[in-house]
Amino acid sequence: MKVETREKLYEGKAKIVYATNQPGVIIQYFKDDKGVVNNRMSATLFERLERAGVPTHYLGTLSDREMLCRKLEIIKIETIVRNLVAGSLAKRTGLEEGTPIKEPIVELYYKSDPLGDPMLNDDHVRMLKLAVPAELAWIRRTALRINGVLRPHLLRRGLLLVDFKLEFGRSGKKLYLGDEISPDTCRLWDRTTREKLDKDRFRRDLGGVEEAYQEVYRRLVAAASGTA
Ligand code: TMP
Repeated sequence: MKVETREKLYEGKAKIVYATNQPGVIIQYFKDDKGVVNNRMSATLFERLERAGVPTHYLGTLSDREMLCRKLEIIKIETIVRNLVAGSLAKRTGLEEGTPIKEPIVELYYKSDPLGDPMLNDDHVRMLKLAVPAELAWIRRTALRINGVLRPHLLRRGLLLVDFKLEFGRSGKKLYLGDEISPDTCRLWDRTTREKLDKDRFRRDLGGVEEAYQEVYRRLVAAASGTA
């Protein structure tokens, strides 16, 4: 059965989610000038993760900007994994950006625009009933597993995975990785020069945003041979 777009379910800054004619299946439409890179990179990394046994919502690529996904009940937690100090961790600790972290750090944030995504600990997650303890344990374990797959994969392509944000959701009794993995949701530095090749170029007004996203695309998608 051919997938057909139905009503709009959600619209954010960078993506629109549409229902389809197939139950339990949605389309993520990647908007704006970076949408093509974000869609293609996410697809490549979701495929890599699926091969490593990580369940993701990814079902297929429909076009440059459209990803077919399993519909999830999104858990309102943003999970961040960090390999090097940067961004809000540098601010919070006073450590210099680029300081290596021996054991990767997992942080949890409340996915709430009105509250500005505040940081949570496991007790807060329980109090707010965002996830049951077994789900949270799975999220932490899976976030580190994802880091274990993506970090070397990206390094082989000349990219340091500094930190990244993940979102998970439920479908039936199972949990899946959702959302996207792109230069909008990861910090990626050139392995040698440490040049920033991610959304920080925009956040910090460094210029060369388009070029940075194209470079990531070139290294991860265009040059991909289909194997890890
Ligand atoms: P932070 O240093 O600002 O806390 O960001 C850590 C990582 O998470 C960085 O790769 C950017 C990503 N991120 C998002 O994708 N969305 C968000 O809302 C935030 C706060 C961070």
